[in-house]
Amino acid sequence: MSTLPYYISWAKQKGADTFNIKSVDGVKVITDDGLELFDMTSISYQAHFGQNHPTIIKHMKAQLDSIPMSSPKGIYPGKNEATYELLQYMGKLEGKIFYTTGGAETVENALKIARDITKKKVILARKNSYHGATQGALVATGDWRHDSHQLPEDWVVRIPEPNDPDALKKTREIIEKVGGNNIAAIIIETITGGNGVYYGDQAWWDGLSALCKEFKMLLIMDEVVCGFGRTGKPFGYMHYNVHPDIICLAKGITGGMVPFGALWTSAAIAEHYEENILSCGLTNYAHPLGMAAMKGVLEIVKDQKFLENLTTVEKVFLDELEKIKTLKNVKAVRVKGMLAAVDLTSSVEGKKFFKKGLYLVSQTNRIILAPPLIINANELKTAMKAVFEVLQDAN
Ligand SMILES: Cc1ncc(COP(=O)(O)O)c(C=O)c1O
Repeated sequence: MSTLPYYISWAKQKGADTFNIKSVDGVKVITDDGLELFDMTSISYQAHFGQNHPTIIKHMKAQLDSIPMSSPKGIYPGKNEATYELLQYMGKLEGKIFYTTGGAETVENALKIARDITKKKVILARKNSYHGATQGALVATGDWRHDSHQLPEDWVVRIPEPNDPDALKKTREIIEKVGGNNIAAIIIETITGGNGVYYGDQAWWDGLSALCKEFKMLLIMDEVVCGFGRTGKPFGYMHYNVHPDIICLAKGITGGMVPFGALWTSAAIAEHYEENILSCGLTNYAHPLGMAAMKGVLEIVKDQKFLENLTTVEKVFLDELEKIKTLKNVKAVRVKGMLAAVDLTSSVEGKKFFKKGLYLVSQTNRIILAPPLIINANELKTAMKAVFEVLQDAN
């Protein structure tokens, strides 16, 4: 048996990959043996604002000193204020927010609401996707994490990836086969995160939106990874002219400082629940510490200095990725804002990056880069130079 008294996620416990953290400092993690690692994936795509941002901490501390916990039905000024600020930042004042404690729960509630509203059961989803580790979210998930959690009744049907030239035609055929009157919604990561930074173009979104309208299916956008500035705009959907019915948020919503999530639902959905019971709820619904951290995040993302830095580092990121593209073992680079995938001819072990002072996600034949959005230009250049060197040495 491994010596730890708790499980390590998504791993065989014996010999599972771990590392000892001594402290955190902005965009760096400091290990027990004194290694200072640039966090190049914002831990798990949630530490958008580094690991101890003073604005988030300030709001959370103030909350602890006033209302540290509350009933799910409790109303206090901070809850209303922060929610209006979120709606404003999303440009979606017409809808309503349901709060959760993380991404999977957000997706879970999105699926429940879509099926409840439409009185239909089937959900369409991509194969190349991850939507969370609760049962419903895992059924919707298409990657390997889905495999041992499929339910006997099949209520998710896969649609083609947006890079398939016949994606829309094939999607229509699938809808016609399943029957539009059976399909509640399509769930899509606006821009995939851990599964390789793949995304559709405007024509794909237009086609998908038209199918949703024609067959009365809801469009659920999973923005858990790409929300709160990750892709260079406040939200991924802002890159496209698209009108989702439900938007799933988590991770960056509190910069990872406290487990939290939210889903936005359209005015039509909100209207439905005026006279129908919303059969969704959580003990820690709209937890004051989550609300406070979100308020801190919303203060950061509207700050001019943050926005100017984001514009600068986005450009540095692109320039450095151009250099990485020239390496012999690099097959392709896909990037949107501060989220990039580098496809490689062969895998490069995570520990090689570690030794060079980098913490990042190394997958089979691919690395994913998602630096904190508050990283400065010099730090990013240093970290990206180290990425370049590791890949060059692996050539
Ligand atoms: C796109 C997407 N949706 C949902 C989730 C689930 O979020 P959580 O791990 O907070 O439950 C993740 C987590 O990585 C994700 O990447």
